[in-house]
Amino acid sequence: MTLNDPQFVAQFERWGARFRPDERLSEHTSLGVGGPADLIDIERPEALEPVVRGLFERGIAWGLLGGGTNVLAADEPHRRVYLRLARPSQTMEFFDDTVRISAAADLGRSVMECAKRNFGGMEGLVGVPGSVGGALRMNAGAYGTEIGPLVRTITVFRGALGRTEELAAGAVGFKYRKSSFAPDDIMLDVTLALHPRPFREILEHVKQLNLRRRGSQPLKEKSAGCIFKNPPGLSTGRMIDELGMKGTRVGGVVVSERHANFLVNRYDATAADFFRMMDLIRGRVLHGYGVELEEEVIVWKN
Ligand code: EPU
Repeated sequence: MTLNDPQFVAQFERWGARFRPDERLSEHTSLGVGGPADLIDIERPEALEPVVRGLFERGIAWGLLGGGTNVLAADEPHRRVYLRLARPSQTMEFFDDTVRISAAADLGRSVMECAKRNFGGMEGLVGVPGSVGGALRMNAGAYGTEIGPLVRTITVFRGALGRTEELAAGAVGFKYRKSSFAPDDIMLDVTLALHPRPFREILEHVKQLNLRRRGSQPLKEKSAGCIFKNPPGLSTGRMIDELGMKGTRVGGVVVSERHANFLVNRYDATAADFFRMMDLIRGRVLHGYGVELEEEVIVWKN
C-alpha cells in the first residue's frame, strides 16, 4: 500500500472520494495483467482538488485509470496511486449540433446514444473500447474517424495547477494517437460537433464496420487493441504478419492469428510475458524492415 495516511484518507468521504487500497490492476485492465495498486475513486469532481493537492504534499505520484483498455501495467506493486472518475448518472447533454459528454462515459455507448438522436460523425469509433476521456487523450481513431477533429471544447482539471479550465479545440493539439494533454490533466467532459444523419443510416454503417472489425480483430480475447503504432505509410500488423509471427507464443501471450498487431492474453499471461513478446517483435521488425516500432499501448511501470 502506497497511501498509508489514515488522516488524509479519513477526509475522502467528505470530499466525495473513496479509497481502494491494493487493487489488482489485472482486474481493471482489458489485458488482464498488472500487479496491486492503490486506487482512489473520485465520486464528485470537486474531490479532485483536495485529493491531488494531498497527494502532491505527500510526494505521492499519481495517474488516471480510465477504461483500462489501452494500458499495460507491470506485475510488481505500483508506487503510483491511480485515480478513477465515477460515471455520473447523466453522461450526455444534447444541443442543436453539439453534445456534451462526460469523460468517464463509455465511448461506444455514447456513439450509439448520439445515433438515436440522429446525430452521426462518430460511427467509426463505435467499436473502440474505453472511455471518452481515454479516447481524447489517445486521439482514438478507426475506419477514417478520429475523435480530435470533432472536439469543440474540453473541460479539464489541470493537475499541475489544481484547477479546472475550459479549453477551446484550438488550444489542444491532436496528432495520430497522440494529444497535447499533460500526464496530470484529467478530462472531465467534452463538447463534440455532430452531423445530422438518420438513425437507420448510422445503424447500417455501424453494422458494416462491426462486421469488418469482427473479421479482422480478435474481439473476444483479452487485448489492448493494437500494441504498436503504425509507422508513417506502413502497417505494423502486416509487417508482423509477413514475418510469420502470427500464433507465436511467449508465456501466456500469443500474437493473434486474426491481426498480428494484437497481442492477446490467452494463457493466463503476466505483464512480463507481454514485455518479452514486445521486445521479440521489435527486434524482428527492426531486423527485417529497418523500422523501429513505437508502442501504442500505455505502459505503466514504477
Ligand atoms: N494486415 C495484414 N495482417 C495482419 C493485420 C493487417 O496483412 O495481421 C494488413 C491488412 O490486410 C490491411 C493492412 O494490413 O491491408 C491494415 O490493416 P487494418 O485495416 O487492420 O488496419 P491497421 O492499420 O492494422 C488501424 C488501427 C486500428 C483500427 C484499424 C481500423 C493503428 C495502430 N491501428 O489498424 O486501431 O481499428 O486501423 O481503422 O493505428 C488501435 O488503435 O488499438 C487499433 C486497433
